[in-house]
Amino acid sequence: MINLSAQYMGINLKNPIIVSSCSLSHSAEGVKRLADAGAGAVVLKSLFEEQILSDTYKLEVSSESVSHPEEIDYLRQMGMTQKSDEYLEMIEKAKEAVDIPVIASINCISDSSWTDYAKYIEAVGADGLELNIALMPKKHDETAQEIEEKIYRIIDIVKHNINIPIAVKLGPYFTSIPRVAARIRKSGASALVLFNRFYQPDIDIQTFEFQSKNRYSSPGEMSNTLRWIAILYKKIGCSLVANTGIHDGEAVIKQILAGASAVQICSTLYINGLSQIESILFDLQEWMRRNEYANLDEFRGLISQKNALQPEYFERQQYIRALVGVE
Ligand SMILES: Cc1cc2nc3c(=O)[nH]c(=O)nc-3n(C[C@H](O)[C@H](O)[C@H](O)COP(=O)(O)O)c2cc1C
Repeated sequence: MINLSAQYMGINLKNPIIVSSCSLSHSAEGVKRLADAGAGAVVLKSLFEEQILSDTYKLEVSSESVSHPEEIDYLRQMGMTQKSDEYLEMIEKAKEAVDIPVIASINCISDSSWTDYAKYIEAVGADGLELNIALMPKKHDETAQEIEEKIYRIIDIVKHNINIPIAVKLGPYFTSIPRVAARIRKSGASALVLFNRFYQPDIDIQTFEFQSKNRYSSPGEMSNTLRWIAILYKKIGCSLVANTGIHDGEAVIKQILAGASAVQICSTLYINGLSQIESILFDLQEWMRRNEYANLDEFRGLISQKNALQPEYFERQQYIRALVGVE
């Protein structure tokens, strides 16, 4: 009997397939569809810090997060008001509708008063909170350390406010991912999601408009995640969840072999439909059966840097290839 159970931020999952934050999880009905399709857990569409601040303008609006009061008006015009109440309602309804973990998600850029809102997320029953900390360095005189300190401060404050577990979803652009990962763990995060995939900007030369490009990932994008899951496995003391470019069962197996506790998927569901979850689970189980694994722990991290016969392979692949004469 094959056991697919896994964990995300210390929460037990019936299988390792987590639907990442996206429009498919933007309503309780959407969450129910994902649960019915077999997901092990669902991360809700992110609520943006600005949406919370817009609703609670009476609370102090940090000059750091919203640089101009007009921005608040703009958000109001965009209909981004009252969203924070609706978000809490959605969590409540989703929790009633499904028996898998429901993780809330906040996209944030500062440690301003939005962090109080995390208490409400906990109060309405979310199983955990994923923070998508999306800092865009814009100042020429700000150091990497100053920027990273902002990330740790956000986690510290949110952690102080709530008791449900926190995961941090990170982008891949840091000078030292191991250092940042270890420090995030120290701030109290129970899991790291590696990596967030940023909005891909483009310009339409007919309409002269700014637009987004390549909304969905391709399978070729998962290598960087594989590298860093393999390098960080068992080195920072918290679970690692793989994200970006994971489209099929083979990709899930590779990420678990590298050391992932679970995976987050999204683009493949838009491209192939929700039945892709069952297809991934089927392929995973078939592979485990062929290789005589009864559970995920038996092969998790087998091909991580920690367990590799050639640990350098993860760092200096070109060098090793050159040594053995392979192009
Ligand atoms: C339509 C769409 C909406 C998304 N919305 C969010 C969001 O609100 N919050 C977030 O953290 N990530 C969001 N993402 C990013 C995904 O959660 C995921 O990190 C990214 O797409 C990489 O995973 P994938 O390769 O499986 O698509 C969105 C992605 C898509 C395609």
